[in-house]
Amino acid sequence: MRWENLLAETIIEDVYARKIFDSRGNPTIEVEVVTTDGFGRASAPAGASTGIYEVVPFPKGGIDEAVRLVNELICEKLVGMDSADQNAIDCLLHEIDGTDNFSRIGGATALAISVAVAKAAASSLGVPLFQHIGGVFAAEIPYPLGNIIGGGKHAGERAPNIQEFLVIPVGAKSYYETLEVCFRVHREAGKLLKKVDKSFTGGRGDEGAWVANISDDEALQVLSETCRRVSDEVGCKIVLGIDVASSSLWDPEKKVYTLRREGRSRSREEQVNYVIEIVERYDLRYVEDPLHEEDFEGFSYLVETLGRKALICGDDLFATNATRVEKGLKLKAANAIIIKPNQVGTLTDAYKTLRVARTGGLVPVVSHRSGETEDSFISHLAVGLRCPVIKTGVLGGERIVKHNELIRIEEMLENVKSMAELPSQLTR
Ligand code: PGA
Ligand code: ZN
Repeated sequence: MRWENLLAETIIEDVYARKIFDSRGNPTIEVEVVTTDGFGRASAPAGASTGIYEVVPFPKGGIDEAVRLVNELICEKLVGMDSADQNAIDCLLHEIDGTDNFSRIGGATALAISVAVAKAAASSLGVPLFQHIGGVFAAEIPYPLGNIIGGGKHAGERAPNIQEFLVIPVGAKSYYETLEVCFRVHREAGKLLKKVDKSFTGGRGDEGAWVANISDDEALQVLSETCRRVSDEVGCKIVLGIDVASSSLWDPEKKVYTLRREGRSRSREEQVNYVIEIVERYDLRYVEDPLHEEDFEGFSYLVETLGRKALICGDDLFATNATRVEKGLKLKAANAIIIKPNQVGTLTDAYKTLRVARTGGLVPVVSHRSGETEDSFISHLAVGLRCPVIKTGVLGGERIVKHNELIRIEEMLENVKSMAELPSQLTR
């Protein structure tokens, strides 16, 4: 027996899985872990614009099979293990699965277990989750990347092609203040949208962003105008960004980007030029997945052209996968990375990817998925792993829980906290 096991309170006594629902009303998995002296509960989110390099969320038999596997097979193997030994638990999950994409037990299953274990360990040790993850000096508060106007797969037919029109209130002095600014921008953007689109009735997409019958350029104009006004009123610098989620627009057979709204397409070159044009015209500081997930070279060209002015962030491009990040670093394909734990399956895997990304100088952005639950572990992850930016929507209960949790963390760290240091692309 290892010495830390003598403490015993972190030893796993029971693991239990059930089906619950996510914010889109789709079933997902929730896992509970009981230790001698603690408890953890976690659930898995789901994407709509999922990348092809993400792990498989559920086994062949679907969620029912995932729940059965946890309750009848995995539970037995975890009981008696130390929940504080995250690495050993996550390694065991890989061992039980035996594939390289979690297709046997499901990546969502693995994630829910992995996070529930971390929460149970934190609870057993009597420390907040972010401290269990990051240690006593984890005290930097991230800035939210708020989703104001939506399009693509998160919205309807007549909405913009670009999936997310985003803001970061880089001038705010606290997380609470960043939210005040985000909500004000959201509210004011809603008012302006009513003027630009007469048919707009206040509808919102999967992540709480407004959905209107407008083009990409109109959305950018509305957002620019709103931010200019709000920034002047509240005296806080706000910068703009987008998530193009280009893999959703890419037609691999025709090798073009399909613009559903306009009923036409763009070649790769046209897409590259369009991205450069809008970054310059609207002073965008953050561009996620401007090109589809296979186009490392195109990403490299954008980093070369725009990298000093804007963060070129890989989401589907990297799929939180360390091997893909290594390839991206060799090609200088990005200067920022989205960290979505459910893309890779366990906390340890997400951490390993983050470590590789950091070594190569990528700015990490911890992110939710469009289908979320009331779980707020990514808020703890962002602080624990010292990620300067968290992307977790704006409105909607499943997004608000993450924001409110960060308000609590901020309060807990009152005397020692500082706002995260942001990269020059966002602060210049
Ligand atoms: P998803 O979208 O969760 O639907 O994949 C979020 C994103 O692309 O960042
Ligand atoms: Zn994305």
